[in-house]
Amino acid sequence: MAELKRILSGMRPSGKLHLGNYTGALENWVQNQGKFQNFHLVADWHVLTTSAENTSQIWKDSIEMIIDWLAVGIDPEKSVIFVQSHVKEHAELFLLFSMLVTVPRLQRNPTVKEQIRELHLEDRVSFGHLGYPVLQAADILIYRAHFVPVGEDQVPHVELTREIARKFNSLYGDVFPEPRPMLTVFSRLPGLDGNKMSKSKGNTILLSDDPETIQKKIRTAVTDPQKIRMGDAGHPDICTVFTYHKKFNPAEVPEIEENCKKGILGCVACKKNLANKLADYLAPFREKRSELEQNRKRIRDIIEDGNDRARKEARETMEAVRDAMKIGIMLDV
Ligand code: TRP
Repeated sequence: MAELKRILSGMRPSGKLHLGNYTGALENWVQNQGKFQNFHLVADWHVLTTSAENTSQIWKDSIEMIIDWLAVGIDPEKSVIFVQSHVKEHAELFLLFSMLVTVPRLQRNPTVKEQIRELHLEDRVSFGHLGYPVLQAADILIYRAHFVPVGEDQVPHVELTREIARKFNSLYGDVFPEPRPMLTVFSRLPGLDGNKMSKSKGNTILLSDDPETIQKKIRTAVTDPQKIRMGDAGHPDICTVFTYHKKFNPAEVPEIEENCKKGILGCVACKKNLANKLADYLAPFREKRSELEQNRKRIRDIIEDGNDRARKEARETMEAVRDAMKIGIMLDV
């Protein structure tokens, strides 16, 4: 394991995960197993940036998310699954890093700017919200990760992480590698309404949905608006259901495309077929999930073991950091 490069991936706990989370992140995480050393962080402190008033769901959401990680095939023997707030060293490194970044630099971060705009936080943004990319830098650098799998929106945070690493190294000596973003090859899967799949939009299919729920949800999916009746010719290239077929039912794609265009295949049948394929695709995940749900002790053990393994790495890095900065340790009196 020692010679493999290291990946740190993180996700805010949002409860049960959906198909977009799978195609956008998890699928890559699973494929990276064995090729890299993988650390998977549950970014629970990051949730506080936007909802510090209500913390009662964070733990439950974290557990549901971890169960989905395990259900899709993250192997806790190979990969380290751990909870950010359980490795307190992140907070210490965050504090130290916060001295190396200017406020205007944080205010220029396009992803944070967009969030502030969307949530109308202009003159009420918290210090912690503005600074969360610095916490993220600590998350990444404390494991001295080489790569960070992210979508486009997170690239500015990795860029900041690199700047912080350079600044630290030049001031106190070489402690950190400069990590690189690993852009997820996004087959960006749209939600049922054709917009970005997101829980807040109510357009998701969950990895844990049962076949009946999948049928019901797929029935509501948008298709080609010009295809109204069975006999109408369709345009698969603008159809959400067709996008799903490409991902989850590739074998039948040529036939579906042809028959849709010819108007032989109606949307009702096409959707029913997709729902069946999707239910089959998700069946092993659902099975693994229900197995885990009946073994809470196993889940607890996996988290505790992951926390221990993460903590060991984080402690080693913090020792190097304190030595380099000559603070936080006893020096000669
Ligand atoms: N900021 C990320 C998000 O909102 C979550 C995150 C926290 C993260 N720490 C990380 C992602 C470290 C990658 C690496 O999705």
